[in-house]
Amino acid sequence: MTASSLSFRLAVVFVLVGMAMGIGMAMSQDHSIMPAHAHLNLLGWVSLFLFGIYYERRPGLNASKLAVVQVALWWAGTVALTVAVAAIHLGYKAADPLAGMAS
Ligand code: HEM
Repeated sequence: MTASSLSFRLAVVFVLVGMAMGIGMAMSQDHSIMPAHAHLNLLGWVSLFLFGIYYERRPGLNASKLAVVQVALWWAGTVALTVAVAAIHLGYKAADPLAGMAS
């Protein structure tokens, strides 16, 4: 799989989860995990979609393994950061080092 198609696919998964999180916050009227929602949407949806466009415009780079590794690392970092930021804002301060490593 190319880096751009991986980016676009992961971006769609992230926006669906991010929207579900937003709808959940709105319905419960509990916005405490808002920073996690914002990071998930901006790192997972917006940034990955931009990577997809960038790589698609550079076919040589798009086919490289290094670009796929970059996208995969971004995916892992975004998942870990979202979980850690949500945990911190729910009162689990012990998640702080995870947020640091994920970032
Ligand atoms: C179904 C879609 C979405 C729903 C229902 C939703 C809902 C929400 C809610 C309830 C808040 C908390 C607002 C507050 O407490 O002040 C919020 C904040 C935020 N959302 Fe979403 N959201 C959605 C999609 C998105 C998307 C696609 C993005 C980014 C591309 C995004 C970015 C943000 C940001 C950056 C904040 C923080 C705003 C601030 O600092 O006041 N959201 N959203």
